[in-house]
Amino acid sequence: IKKIGVLTSGGDSPGMNAAIRSVVRTCAYHNIECIGIYRGYQGMIEGDFKEMGPRSVNNIVNKGGTILKSARSLEFKTPEGRKKAHENLVNAGIDALVVIGGDGTFTGAELFNNEFGYPVMGIPGTIDNDIYGTSHTLGYDTALNTVVECIDKIRDTASSHNRLFFVEVMGRDAGHIALNAGIGAGAEEILIPEEDLGLERLLESLQKSKASGKSSSIVVVSEGDKIGKNVFELKEYVEEHMPEYDVRVSVLGHMQRGGSPSCFDRVLASRLGVKAVESILEGKSNYMVGLIQDKVALTPLEQAIKGSSKIDEELLRVSDIMTT
Ligand code: F6P
Repeated sequence: IKKIGVLTSGGDSPGMNAAIRSVVRTCAYHNIECIGIYRGYQGMIEGDFKEMGPRSVNNIVNKGGTILKSARSLEFKTPEGRKKAHENLVNAGIDALVVIGGDGTFTGAELFNNEFGYPVMGIPGTIDNDIYGTSHTLGYDTALNTVVECIDKIRDTASSHNRLFFVEVMGRDAGHIALNAGIGAGAEEILIPEEDLGLERLLESLQKSKASGKSSSIVVVSEGDKIGKNVFELKEYVEEHMPEYDVRVSVLGHMQRGGSPSCFDRVLASRLGVKAVESILEGKSNYMVGLIQDKVALTPLEQAIKGSSKIDEELLRVSDIMTT
């Protein structure tokens, strides 16, 4: 292996830049050339490559987003697109690939490896934390802190006005952000896709907290929850059944994906980048590097994509007790 390519793909997440920096510098440390591929798989198809050295990643460890840009490439989903991408890599003399992204990114990498026998290594980068084989994906910790900070602010105004707020958070089909940020921010209820509370129990719970003397409430709603109503419909439903409540909605949206990465995400990115490059140099391929019981470990890409990252039962219990 003489030349390694690195790309970021799918939804960006804080810590991706720190991971790029780590991959580039680990390559330099081992005297391997490193090529940055812009706009994920789309840039691979278009040959949008740039040589990177240790100084081209100065001052990015603290930056949100990704200097390599990101995209969700439809063309890469076609055999023709992947063929073009493979030709470009071969022509540029790139021997292996580090892909930083979520399950869509890994699905593409696995397919690419199966079709061409091309060496790939994945680094999990998504705020959703919905990848099997790592306790934390890059950006998840930062997103949690962002969400908690926002909910703290919402709580100030909610309590001044005795209001009930539904706060919608990201996470796609996973409730990790909602559950953890909900506990951290002291939410009264947390609605996640993994556990359907049901509308009646939500009402009961809100009535109970009102009766117990609470004058304002925060309900954190994961965007993928299964209660059957979106946050705006939930507002109408609660207003209809509990007219004494003044209800507001706040959808946090893409601010959850931005911002300077937390120290945890920077360290994690640095560790995963080193492990990804060194695993390739040891001849390994088709794995994801992740964090398991605080140790960096490899999981086959196929398992990382198909296995589910389960919600911790203990956390659910803690959440139940905290909302008493
Ligand atoms: O996967 C990260 C994520 O931010 C999800 O939480 C969210 O559902 C989705 O991406 C939003 O995607 P887009 O940026 O394409 O709107």
